[in-house]
Amino acid sequence: MNARETLYAGKNGRLQIGGVDVKDLASLYGTPLYVFDKAHIKKVCETFAESLNKYYGKGKIFYASKAFCCKETYRIVKEAGLGADVVSAGEIFTALSAGTDAKNLCFHGNNKSYSDLEYAVKSGVGYIVIDAVSEIDDLEEICAKLKVKQRVLLRVNPGVEAHTHHYIQTAKPDSKFGFSIENGDADKAVKNLVAKSFVDFCGLHCHIGSQIFEKTSFLLAVDKMTDYYKKVSEDFGAKLSVLNLGGGFGIYYTETDPKFGCEDYAEYIKSICEKLCECLAQKDVEKPYLIFEPGRAIVGEAGITLYTAGRIKNITGLKNYISVNGGMFENPRFALYQAKYTVLAAERLNDKPDTVYTVAGKCCESGDVIAENVNLPKMREGELIAVLSTGAYNYSMASNYNRNFVPPVVMVEDGKSYLAVKGQTFEDLVRNDL
Ligand SMILES: Cc1ncc(COP(=O)(O)O)c(C=O)c1O
Repeated sequence: MNARETLYAGKNGRLQIGGVDVKDLASLYGTPLYVFDKAHIKKVCETFAESLNKYYGKGKIFYASKAFCCKETYRIVKEAGLGADVVSAGEIFTALSAGTDAKNLCFHGNNKSYSDLEYAVKSGVGYIVIDAVSEIDDLEEICAKLKVKQRVLLRVNPGVEAHTHHYIQTAKPDSKFGFSIENGDADKAVKNLVAKSFVDFCGLHCHIGSQIFEKTSFLLAVDKMTDYYKKVSEDFGAKLSVLNLGGGFGIYYTETDPKFGCEDYAEYIKSICEKLCECLAQKDVEKPYLIFEPGRAIVGEAGITLYTAGRIKNITGLKNYISVNGGMFENPRFALYQAKYTVLAAERLNDKPDTVYTVAGKCCESGDVIAENVNLPKMREGELIAVLSTGAYNYSMASNYNRNFVPPVVMVEDGKSYLAVKGQTFEDLVRNDL
C-alpha cells in the first residue's frame, strides 16, 4: 500500500486518511464514498509548481481537471497557484463558478464546437489548443466578430508515445489527437495559423501518454518539440513564446508500480527542465514559457473509495466474489481498461490476507468488477472495504447507470472532514425526465 503521513493503518487496525478513521467517515457520510486527502493534493500541486520554478523559472502548472472536476478541486489548485486544463464548456463553467481566473485556463479538445469556442473566447480563457483544421477558421471568425485576439497553441504529435514503463519512438500518426509533425499535417496547420489576424498563434503543445514513469520518452519529446518549435519560428515566421508538454506522470496503483513520491516528481521535472535548457541552448532558441498539465499525479493517490461489503459468492473450485455497494457507475476503470487497484479490508488491516477475491460491483454487467484476484482476510458482509488510488478518472467518469447514485465526495484534512460534492437523491435521478 502507498502509505504516507496522511494515509496509514491506525493502531486499531483501521485505515486512517487525513487524520480521520474511515469507520467514522462511513458513519457520517455512508458508503460508497469518495474520500480525498486534501493535504496530499496540495503537497503534489506545490511540488510541481516549486520544481518548475526552481529548475526552469518561467512557466505554470495547469491541473488537468478531467482527472477530477468539481468546484472544490478548482479552489484547491488555484490556492496552490495552479491554472487548469479544461476540455469542455462544462469544465470551463465549473472552473469559473469556483472563482478560477479565466486567464488561467487552457482549453483542449479534438472536437470543440463553434459554440464551445465562442463560450471560451467570451469567457476570456488564457489559451485554446487547436486540434482540428476547421477549428482555426471558426475561431478566427469568432474572434473577428468579438474583436478580440485569442492566444492559441497547436497540439502536435511529436512521434513519441509513452505509457507506464515503456515508450515507442514512432507514435502512430493516426491518433485522434494532435497534428503529426512527421507527415506534414502540423506544417499545414501552422501555415494556416500564421496567416490569421485574430488568432494569436503563440505556442506548441504535446501530450505523449499517461501513467508514465520512465523519463526517456519525455526527454525525447523535448528534443523533438524544440526542433519543431525552432522550425515553426524560423521557417514559418511564427512568434512563439509558449511550450506546453502536457501531463502523464504515473502514480502507484499496485505493487507492480513504482512508488513515486513528491521527491520523484520533483526529480522528474528537474530532468525535463535540464534537458529543455540544454536543447534550447544547442538550438539557439529563446526560452519559452513552460507549461505542464498533470492530472492523475495530483489527485490519483489522494483519493480512496470506501464501500460496504455485500453478498459473498463462493463458486466452488473457481472464484470467490465479494460484491460491494458501488461498481462501474462510480469506478468504470476496470470495465474500461482492466485497471488494477490495491484493495483493503479497511477495518482489519492487521488480519492476514488469506483469501483471494474478485471484488464485484452491483451493476447488471458481468464486466462490472472493481478488482480481480485481490488478497483479503476472509470477509464478512457489512464490513468496510477501501480501494486506494481512485482519485483520478473515477468521479469524473461516474454515471447513473442502473439508476445508481453518484456517491458524495468528502475532503479530509487535519482530522476534519467536509462534503465537497453532495450525494444524489431519488429526485436527482428523475430531475430531467419528462
Ligand atoms: C492534453 C492532456 N493534458 C493532460 C492530461 C492529463 O494526463 P494525466 O492525468 O495522465 O496527467 C491529458 C490526459 O488525457 C491530456 O489529454
